Amino acid sequence: MIQKPKGTRDLLPDESYKWKEVENKIQKLFESYAFKEIRVPVFEHTELFLRGVGETTDVVQKEMYTFDDKGGRSITLRPEGTAGAVRAYLENGMGSNPSPTKIWYNMAMYRYENVQKGRLREFHQIGAELIGSESYLADVDVILMANNIFKILNIPNIKLNINSIGCPKCRAEYQKVLKEFIGKNLNEYCDTCKTRFDKNPMRILDCKEKKCKELNVGAPMMIDYLCDECKEHFEKVKQGLRENNINYEIDSTIVRGLDYYTKTVFEFVDEKSGLTVLGGGRYDGLVEEFGGPSTPAIGFATGVERLMEMYNEYNPDLKDKIPDIYILSMGQRANQKAFELSEKLRLEGYIVEKDIMERSFKSQMKYADKIMAKKLLVIGDNELDTNRAKIKNMQTGEEIDVDLELESIKNLL
Ligand code: HAM
Repeated sequence: MIQKPKGTRDLLPDESYKWKEVENKIQKLFESYAFKEIRVPVFEHTELFLRGVGETTDVVQKEMYTFDDKGGRSITLRPEGTAGAVRAYLENGMGSNPSPTKIWYNMAMYRYENVQKGRLREFHQIGAELIGSESYLADVDVILMANNIFKILNIPNIKLNINSIGCPKCRAEYQKVLKEFIGKNLNEYCDTCKTRFDKNPMRILDCKEKKCKELNVGAPMMIDYLCDECKEHFEKVKQGLRENNINYEIDSTIVRGLDYYTKTVFEFVDEKSGLTVLGGGRYDGLVEEFGGPSTPAIGFATGVERLMEMYNEYNPDLKDKIPDIYILSMGQRANQKAFELSEKLRLEGYIVEKDIMERSFKSQMKYADKIMAKKLLVIGDNELDTNRAKIKNMQTGEEIDVDLELESIKNLL
C-alpha cells in the first residue's frame, strides 16, 4: 500500500469538524478587526523567498521544497505566508487602497524539517498581516488580536514573549559587537554558523545545534543596542500591552527564524510543551525589499496543528453535528417520497440521512441508531396511503403522528 509522505498527515472526519469550528471562530475574530481574507498560490518563484525570508535562514538553506518546473523556472512551495501576501499586495496595487491594509489567510505551508512532535513537513498556518502602519498602536492591536485567539478558544497556559530586534540602523552597530563575541570561538561553531558569520551573524543566535547554543550563552543582545527610535517604539508597545492587561515577558533571545523582521517580535508559547504556537513581528523593510515604496507592516501566524493540539486538550467535549432525522423508507414509492422530503429538508439546512443501500427495515433501524440520528421517520405503503407517519425521538423513544408534509415534519425537528 502506498503511504503518505513523511511529515504529512490526513485530517479525518473525526477531527476535521473541530478544525472547522476553530477556523470559523478565528475568521470571525479577524473579521471583527476588519481583516479580509487573501489566498495566494501554493508555489512562488524561489527568488521571492530568497529575498523575503533571507538566504542565510534555516528555512531557505535547509527546508524549502524547491524544484525546476518543465519550463526551467525555479519554483518553491511556500514555507510561510508573509512573502506571498506582500507580493500579492504589491502586484495587485493594494497599496492604493485606504491604508492600512489588513489581510488574513489560512493556508498549507511546506518545510523540509526534521519531523518530530509539532514539527511537520506539510502544516497549516492561520496568519494576519497589517500593512501600512508604523505606529506602536498597530503592534498593540495585532498582539491583542493574536492573544484573543487563545481567549476565544478557551486555551490557558499560554505565555507571550516579546522582544525588539531593532532596525537596520541599530543592527549595524550591534552586529559589530556580536561578531566580536562569536569570532572568539568561531572555529567551534557548526559549518552553517561559520558561513553565516560574515553575511548575517544574528542568524547564529538562532542555530539549533547543541554546541552552538552553548557557545551562544552570554552573547550580547540586540535589545541592549536599540537606537532611540526603536527603543521608544518598544517602550510604547509594552505600555500599550500593560494598559490592555496583557501579560508579557521580555525574552531577549527571540530572534525569529526569518530575516524580514524589524523592531517588535513576539511568540505565544505553550507553557506545557514549550512549543511556539504563534509567532510574528514587524517587518518594516519587506515591501521595499520586494520593489515597493517604503511601507511598514506587522503580522503573525499560528500553526494550526499546534493550536489544535491545545484546543483538543482544553475543549474535550466538542461533538460533531449529528443527523436531525433519518428517513426510513420501504418500497419504491416510499423511496421516492423519502427523496422528496429529504431534498426539501436539506435545502432548508437540516442534516438528513436516508436509505441509499436498499437495506431491510431492521438494518435501516440499526443504522439510524448507529449514526445517532435525533429523529426517525418511517415511510411505507401504509403511510403513503394515509399521508400520515410516525416520527420517533431516538433519545426518549417518544413517537408522534404527523402529516407527511414538509411543514408538519419541520415543526417536530
Ligand atoms: P514562523 O514562526 O516560522 O513564522 O511560523 C509561525 C508558526 O507556524 C509557528 O509558531 C508554529 O506554530 C507554526 N510552524 C512553523 N513551522 C512548523 C512546522 N514545521 N510544523 C508545524 N507547525 C509549524 C512565520 O511563518 C511568519 N510568516 C509569521 C508572520 C506573519 N510574521 C509576520 N507575519
